[in-house]
Amino acid sequence: MPLKDKKIIVTGGPTREWIDPVRYISNASSGKMGIALADAAVSRSKQTVFIHGPIENSLLTNTIFKSIYVETTADLMNAVLNELTPGCVIIMAAAPADFQPEKKSSTKIKKENDTDILILKLKKNPDILKNIAEKKSKDASLSGIFVTGFAAETDNTESNAIKKFNAKNLDMICLNDVTQKDAGFGTDTNRIIIFTKDSDGIKKTELPLLLKAEAAERILDLIESELK
Ligand code: PMT
Repeated sequence: MPLKDKKIIVTGGPTREWIDPVRYISNASSGKMGIALADAAVSRSKQTVFIHGPIENSLLTNTIFKSIYVETTADLMNAVLNELTPGCVIIMAAAPADFQPEKKSSTKIKKENDTDILILKLKKNPDILKNIAEKKSKDASLSGIFVTGFAAETDNTESNAIKKFNAKNLDMICLNDVTQKDAGFGTDTNRIIIFTKDSDGIKKTELPLLLKAEAAERILDLIESELK
């Protein structure tokens, strides 16, 4: 089914969890993969929305999709859940911080204490894709949404991606091995292996090394053919 009449929600970039007013927990996601996907998506459907964490503003110059800025993983989850509509397509290329400090200090934590070690207690952030799956199962009008996740892996890459595919009840997962120097965080290229469902179980589609823009087109082609 062509994506022309579909709302497409793409997420990208990192999220940020503040420790105190000057320090935060985050990761090295640049937002490039998400932007490439949103660019490819908007050329197929004007109803494309890109929800992103803190990224270089210049990367958004000349983009024509609607953008929504968020900061924390909870903000990202709320924004995504708020955008879900029956029949939409969601592509989660963001790298949300998995943990946040249990307590945020309202003043800058001083380093002039008598110890060299600072212990931070972290608590788990909500899993956005699991929350989408839950909403999908509770709200019949959302049962037809198509959900694509990404898996940023460093070891046992395929088995870890397949675990996420099943645990998060996804329609598709795009695995990138982020230990490769031309793939994953910050690069202009990516090497992606895509897993989808088929009648015999799980189907694997291996993309070669591609520019993120080219990989994004291939992912959207595959989503389009999965929707048929
Ligand atoms: O932004 P770039 O520099 O271009 O880099 C691109 C990328 C490497 C960030 C991207 O290609 C990628 O792999 N994104 C997913 C990063 C990630 O969080 O992977 P994960 O394996 O930890 O998470 C699996 C899936 O769950 C992801 O779709 C993620 O968006 C989602 N997730 C993660 C944490 C969380 N609390 N809720 C989630 O829904």
